[in-house]
Amino acid sequence: MDRLIVRPRETPLSGTVRVSGMTKNAGLKQMAASLLAPGMTTLSNMTNVADLSTMYELLGSIGATVNKIDDTTYTIDSSGELSPEAPYDLVSRMRASINVLSPLLARIGYARVSLPGGDNIGVRKLDMHFKALEKMGATFDLEHGYIEARADKLVGARIVLEFPSVGATENILTAAVLADGQTVIDNAAREPEVRDLCTFLTKMGANIDGAGTSTITIEGVKELVPTTHSIVGDRIEAGTMLMACGIVGGEITLEGVTISDLEMVVLKLGDMGMKVSPTRDGIWAMATTPLRSVDISTLPFPGFATDYMPMAVALLSTCEGTSIVTENIYDNRFGFTEELVRMGADIRTEGRHCVIRGVNQLSGTQVRANDVRAGAALCLAGLVATGETVVHDTVHVWRGYHDLAKSLSKLGADVTWESDE
Ligand code: EPU
Repeated sequence: MDRLIVRPRETPLSGTVRVSGMTKNAGLKQMAASLLAPGMTTLSNMTNVADLSTMYELLGSIGATVNKIDDTTYTIDSSGELSPEAPYDLVSRMRASINVLSPLLARIGYARVSLPGGDNIGVRKLDMHFKALEKMGATFDLEHGYIEARADKLVGARIVLEFPSVGATENILTAAVLADGQTVIDNAAREPEVRDLCTFLTKMGANIDGAGTSTITIEGVKELVPTTHSIVGDRIEAGTMLMACGIVGGEITLEGVTISDLEMVVLKLGDMGMKVSPTRDGIWAMATTPLRSVDISTLPFPGFATDYMPMAVALLSTCEGTSIVTENIYDNRFGFTEELVRMGADIRTEGRHCVIRGVNQLSGTQVRANDVRAGAALCLAGLVATGETVVHDTVHVWRGYHDLAKSLSKLGADVTWESDE
């Protein structure tokens, strides 16, 4: 659907909402990793986000069959012969396409993967992926915008990442599990989605130590077998709901997510004056508006994730006082702030920093989402803006959220989809 229509409500948010599985940033990687084990893999707690269809298409073109069993369960059958190509059309649409590189190298010794190029949030290089895989015996040629990777045999190696890249850690992991000998990844990404990939690979028979820490050791095994796995709850969707509560005020409960996966967000929301605590299966939160300003710097996990940043800026726009937000992961992720300014926010950006002076009132208007989290941020701002906020280009929002309007509506917000059809 084309647009999100957001209107303010006088009443605070309240109620309970179940957080989806982290399909975009965890489930899709596991779909790609399932290529390592010929046979039928089953993934549950998945949601039908737009990128899932792209992964469907990609795995289909590679020669695997994806089937939907029910709303949250999918099987991937990779028992047939695989074709090595990930075309530009799919890789440029979805970053997670790059995760087929190592499984293809491990399984058939050859992969031809388009280079994705930059996107709306900045330059997104792959040099660490290539350097690490070269150390493990792969060779790379660049031709007509495609990377041609070859490896007769992948061998274990010690790899020190210059930055704890999520994607590079994932590609190294899926290369190492079937490589000859031991691989050690130092300065590995510690994100919950990387930990979840390790859990999935371990269930397939991989030998991995140190998942969720910055040193991961993998002993290569001869073969992996298909498995069944329920993917991790979506910490970014959970953070979005918590910040919605912070912006409107109210008392909410989230199910299906672990508070330790959101530790830094919870700390920052606490500094702003929100009360957040764990429940048996999730998180409880209460906010009385307006909250207080805080400074935030985005960092790899367990730091404050860049994927929360746009929603945090929307929230800080309504807080009392001045905040400074520093974006350390991407070089161009402040594009959405111009749209917030059009809604009356007081935000000044300068390189990697933005200064936000809290205002008493935002006002609704027509705005455009330039990436998935920008869309969520504009939607949150609309929850307290006067009049109607119309968020266009919601194609980006569907990439990462199963149904943002529905989740927010369950908490009493007035958010609906509108389409031209
Ligand atoms: N980088 C390099 N060289 C590399 C790899 C990364 O310079 O070889 C740089 C990138 O250019 C970027 C930074 O390192 O500036 C972080 O990249 P990383 O590899 O950690 O991220 P990613 O795997 O490309 C995933 C998520 C992003 C999320 C980041 C960081 C998926 C599909 N994407 O991307 O999610 O921001 O990790 O946590 O998992 C989102 O959900 O909105 C989103 C953008």
